[in-house]
Amino acid sequence: MPEIIRKITIIKPDDWHVHLRDNEILKKVIHYTGKFYNRALIMPNLDSPITNCFKSIHYRSKILNAMNLKYKFQPLMTCYLTRFTMPEELKIGFSKKIFIAAKLYPNDSTTNSKTGIKDISYIIRVLECMEQIGMPLLIHGEEIDQNIDIYDREAKFIENTLEPLRNKFPKLKIVLEHITTKESVEYIKKSDPYYLSATITPHHLMHNRNDMFFGGIQPYLYCLPVLKNKTDQIALREAIASGDRHFFLGSDTAPHLHKNKINIVGRAGIFNAPSSLLCYVQVFEEMNALKYLQSFCSENGPKFYNMPINKKTITLVKSSYRVIKKINVGKNNIIVPFLAGKNLNWSIED
Ligand code: DOR
Ligand code: ZN
Repeated sequence: MPEIIRKITIIKPDDWHVHLRDNEILKKVIHYTGKFYNRALIMPNLDSPITNCFKSIHYRSKILNAMNLKYKFQPLMTCYLTRFTMPEELKIGFSKKIFIAAKLYPNDSTTNSKTGIKDISYIIRVLECMEQIGMPLLIHGEEIDQNIDIYDREAKFIENTLEPLRNKFPKLKIVLEHITTKESVEYIKKSDPYYLSATITPHHLMHNRNDMFFGGIQPYLYCLPVLKNKTDQIALREAIASGDRHFFLGSDTAPHLHKNKINIVGRAGIFNAPSSLLCYVQVFEEMNALKYLQSFCSENGPKFYNMPINKKTITLVKSSYRVIKKINVGKNNIIVPFLAGKNLNWSIED
């Protein structure tokens, strides 16, 4: 009989993929990240993307101002790459720790990616510079060609874009963000984790595309890259349960107003900050792999980013936790979180 674990203390985790947005939404969502995480890598795809040091400093101070003292965390900033990004900007930003990494959004691939990259050849000088200074490149890995089936876009991206990119820049540090497929797991596992690693979200671990259409369309399970099939889901779950250091925590918490999710064209993104860590624990427990929870949540990420491992700890207990149903934003708007109103098996000890 396996031992039943009812309480687990781990090094306080970091979330290496967080969308906090701006203004009113920022103020409402920020403390959910601070409750569970010590550091958060902040994605730069605001309506006006964070494309230079000046914007990043300004955005970071807005984040710090919005932070609740009880739930403080360290925001780590990223630069949004466009065809106009200057290598010098990244050099300065990285050396002064204004930027920890830069994010590559293929043009029109997801939320606020209109000024993303149409062709990698536009940013060759930037990539050369990043390889030289050791600045990580974070990738939304999907091909954007409408002729490619949406379920194949990640696999095609690896074949058509990532593999040639890695051949050209073998010493460039890369994170393939929010991987969703069995092919991605296999591809990542073959690499040197110092140069290529991947984040995995709670929603891709807990769901597959059948769930997105269960009983009708489920807009709150719509994200990009879209949920894949059950085989892919199992591959992701096995990847984290194997304790492999290529994989680490990046929740891709991505709040959108309800009115923008439920619309003629609904936005992609799942706001999971209120429950992400508890979801990961649940999956590790289901996989009988709690012994690897700490490395996934708190060690593999800092190792990749060459950062110290946190000193604080967090204790998780096996007791039911009800996810908040909604968050009010302004007078008439709400944000609905992932698993709204549902019970999870684990909660955090205060
Ligand atoms: O579902 C997603 N939402 N995927 C992304 O890549 C971006 C994110 C967002 O910013 O809304
Ligand atoms: Zn994201």
